[in-house]
Amino acid sequence: MSVASISDFRQKAKQRLPHFLYEYIVGGSYQETTLRANREDLQRIALRQRVLKDVGEVSTECHLLGKPCKMPVVLAPIGLAGAYARRGEVQAAQAAEKQQTPFTLSTVSLCSVEEVAAAVTPPPWFQLYMIKDRCFVQRLLQRVARVGCDTLMLTVDLPVPGARYRDVRSGLNGSNTMMNHMRRVGQSLLRPRWAWDVGLRGRPYSLGNLTPELGRDSGLADFIRWIEKNFDPTATWHDIDFIRQNWSGKIILKGILDVEDAQQALDLGVDGIVVSNHGGRQLDGTPSTARALTAIAERLNGKSTILADGGVESGLDVVRMLALGADGVLLGRAWAFALAAGGRLGVQQMLQLIHDEMRVAMALTGHTDVTTIARASLVSEAL
Ligand SMILES: Cc1cc2nc3c(=O)[nH]c(=O)nc-3n(C[C@H](O)[C@H](O)[C@H](O)COP(=O)(O)O)c2cc1C
Repeated sequence: MSVASISDFRQKAKQRLPHFLYEYIVGGSYQETTLRANREDLQRIALRQRVLKDVGEVSTECHLLGKPCKMPVVLAPIGLAGAYARRGEVQAAQAAEKQQTPFTLSTVSLCSVEEVAAAVTPPPWFQLYMIKDRCFVQRLLQRVARVGCDTLMLTVDLPVPGARYRDVRSGLNGSNTMMNHMRRVGQSLLRPRWAWDVGLRGRPYSLGNLTPELGRDSGLADFIRWIEKNFDPTATWHDIDFIRQNWSGKIILKGILDVEDAQQALDLGVDGIVVSNHGGRQLDGTPSTARALTAIAERLNGKSTILADGGVESGLDVVRMLALGADGVLLGRAWAFALAAGGRLGVQQMLQLIHDEMRVAMALTGHTDVTTIARASLVSEAL
């Protein structure tokens, strides 16, 4: 099957990945209400069709945090992506490099920041979870700075992990029993191509940024348990000072959904925020990001960079988020599916698809430049 859209990548990823990994990617927390709302609300936003506007030359190029980009799109931090394709974070970062798109490496990636930074220029953005052991955080930030990363995305919406029923049902999370282990092995054997290419040849299986803390080849389920034990639920706004003392580059706060929190981030002078509900994987029942974005954009009024994510699956969705007030958009599951479906080339193809769709959406809404996309690009009753 040729791939025409993100849902085709999703379909291919489903065929290639062991069940527990596919479920890990698609899942949202609890009843998945927020997960669904992210998609549904975005789809409901009606763009204004404009005609006879001379759209012969449409450009998606822009600057994000002062850096030139092919389009206002960033690859979101996605944990365990090295399990979706062999050395998956390196492959995705290389695809992003080809498409002049920033790539964000998760704290809980399989490939270390050193491995990814050695493979691409410029180095990736780095996403940090606040970990209880602050000395460990200091050492990690030193490693990240040493390889030349200049943008830190601090994720603030995971003081405790939201439960995903799918992960329990698939055997990925829950009790550490031999039965669950055997279920994962069984699911992997049903995907022989993945078992050979990633399961066997994709080693070492360690969380590269957390080694040696966690040890090597610990197994995916152990990683999840480590995360639950070591993330810091006591972190507060004061910790932004701690980060600033240990990091001289740009700081973006990811996981802002409330206007007051956005204002506080602005007051603290961070370089940007990501309006996000973690792809519907944390507090179920929160508003979709599309719904939260407008009020936040109005409050910040251009004083800080606003990125947004959640349910973005096409170039049209990117234009919708920009019209609601975002300066740029993070793609999450879209790249995870593309990576699982086709490795580096899959991610490259996915980004090209988003780019091409964006150009069409811009032309049909009468825009030749991303900076002119605004609330007025929507029909007034949208959302
Ligand atoms: C499988 C998976 C793993 C994720 N891992 C992380 C992570 O390690 N750090 C983080 O800040 N966000 C993580 N996220 C959230 C994404 O960065 C992003 O906010 C979300 O996926 C956006 O929604 P979308 O998938 O609908 O595009 C993860 C999301 C998924 C689906």
